[in-house]
Amino acid sequence: MLKDVFINDVGPRDGLQNQTKILLPAHRLRLIERLTDAGLDGVEVGAFVSPKAVPAMAGTDKICQQLASNNCHYSTLIPNMKGFELAERNNVKLASLVIATSNTMNEKNIRMDNAQTLNMIKDVIDVSKNTTVEVQVYLATAWACPFEGIIAPQQVIDMAGSLLEMGASRLVIADTIGAADPLGVNTLMDQLVKQYGSDVFSCHFHDTRAMGLANVYAALAAGIRRFDASIAGLGGCPFAPGASGNVATEDVVMMCEQMGFNTCLVYAYDDGYEQDRRIVQITPVDY
Ligand code: COA
Ligand code: ZN
Repeated sequence: MLKDVFINDVGPRDGLQNQTKILLPAHRLRLIERLTDAGLDGVEVGAFVSPKAVPAMAGTDKICQQLASNNCHYSTLIPNMKGFELAERNNVKLASLVIATSNTMNEKNIRMDNAQTLNMIKDVIDVSKNTTVEVQVYLATAWACPFEGIIAPQQVIDMAGSLLEMGASRLVIADTIGAADPLGVNTLMDQLVKQYGSDVFSCHFHDTRAMGLANVYAALAAGIRRFDASIAGLGGCPFAPGASGNVATEDVVMMCEQMGFNTCLVYAYDDGYEQDRRIVQITPVDY
């Protein structure tokens, strides 16, 4: 069994986009630096979206310009071609497009229906091939949509096939509102892995119904080794009613490490026991 689990902290984007208090880019950068220092494999540093739609993500360009170069894989969310152009201009290496499973969710989120979103994704990926920007795609509301209800696994499998065919470098299968359960996660991820392999997938869980960690375990059991998580369990989507915080980075690290997976991060147990690798230790900052 592979022992490596890669964790991408989405706190600076998913975590902060829905908070009532909007942080300045300089403060968001400090959070990103601390996450990087903790040794996380990836950090989603912001979003090139309309500042009118998501005011908390304004200034993502300033953050990207000040990122130190290191081994951490930094990414930004982009909703459309304009977002891609901004990402490229600001030296982003990995840009994340989003498509939800339903027309209603796509329209609420990025004002396009499914067909328009798929066309836009194809255009962005085509353009990206002549640049140094890698484009991955979030398949949002993969188990349930806040507007259209339960989503059939076959729909996600078909959409995943189309997106991979278009050239998406990876797909992040996202439970945007935290409505999935471990059985549903295991069933879908197992089918996706059997059809397309495990390397092209990552999972993104919200903990709305306290099943976030169980869902991570269910995806691990299906062979998934890449996960989004958010420091302190921050998170939520302004356009998806019911979305609460993401599964907490420190909890995912603790569970994985205790089960023998190597995350290259180490949780400091309350009893003071530490393993000899790095410690996820984000000192609270007074913003
Ligand atoms: N970044 C910054 N500004 C953008 C943009 C982007 N990627 N895309 C469009 N805009 C600007 C346009 O320039 C225009 O600006 P103006 O009013 O100053 O002329 C304005 O936004 C409206 O442009 P339009 O193309 O008509 O967009 P829209 O109003 O249909 O909104 C989105 C579409 C995608 C830009 C908007 O819905 C959005 O940013 N959504 C973000 C979704 C999100 O972050 N969800 C959470 C994570 S999944
Ligand atoms: Zn999310």
